[in-house]
Amino acid sequence: MTTSLLLSLLFSFVILASAANFNQDIEVTWGDGRGKILENGNLLTLTLDKFSGSGFQSKNQYLFGKIDMNIKLVPGNSAGTVTTYYLRSEGSTWDEIDFEFLGNLSGDPYIVHTNVYTQGKGDKEQQFYLWFDPTKDFHTYSLLWNPQRIIFSVDGTPIREFKNLESMGVAFPKSQPMRVYSSLWNADNWATRGGVVKTDWSKAPFTAAYRNYKADACVWSSGKSSCSSTSPSQNSWLSQELDITSQQRLKWVQKNYMIYNYCTDTKRFPQGLPKECSVH
Ligand SMILES: *[C@@H]1O[C@H](CO)[C@@H](O)[C@H](O)[C@H]1NC(C)=O
Repeated sequence: MTTSLLLSLLFSFVILASAANFNQDIEVTWGDGRGKILENGNLLTLTLDKFSGSGFQSKNQYLFGKIDMNIKLVPGNSAGTVTTYYLRSEGSTWDEIDFEFLGNLSGDPYIVHTNVYTQGKGDKEQQFYLWFDPTKDFHTYSLLWNPQRIIFSVDGTPIREFKNLESMGVAFPKSQPMRVYSSLWNADNWATRGGVVKTDWSKAPFTAAYRNYKADACVWSSGKSSCSSTSPSQNSWLSQELDITSQQRLKWVQKNYMIYNYCTDTKRFPQGLPKECSVH
């Protein structure tokens, strides 16, 4: 065998080994056949009809990670539907980091809803429109979660940063391992224009599609992390922060596409805004 053939074989093995495979990493957990893993594990689809939605979860639990997923949201009239994609721990004082995509009438914009829960307490919503049609193509939605910060990104552009401000007495999720979850379900009592526009069941089944799941993450298993503290350089995301360019992108999104920010909702917090709101 020639060296170059050997090298290319080795190389393709490395790529295969790191490429996402839904069969290996994900299990469809509900929906009675409405969630499907296709194309040898390269494509996953969730559907929703009048009778049920569907959902999946990661097989692994993670304590910190950079999780990427390509998602193509429900096209056409998706009003009333909600596609969720989030990290969540177990129990009644759970931690959670949320992306939710609220559908809309054809041509009207989806809302990207985000939230962070620590020990069962959320109330930290920010909502955005997107700068593209999320139903035409797959786009990458990422959650970076490390001990210092949580960064929500879309196609590599940060849309939200939630910093660890424990020093100010703000709770931050950092001790409960989380799984990745996703679901497609009906929420026409609140999702579209606050519940005014209902799901048009004549358009069912509704389908969201997923590709390229990638978890650069510390897998948590039997009380231990797969990340070694002795060679943190292997996981640069564990100390990643926003560089100047990313900070400018974040500002651009927040200025032009943010439609709700709990930090400016003084009506909702008559006793005063949450502490972290004074930081930005
Ligand atoms: C749906 O479209 C309407 C009209 O453009 C807009 O007000 C609303 O924010 C959009 N998104 C959702 C999820 O309601």
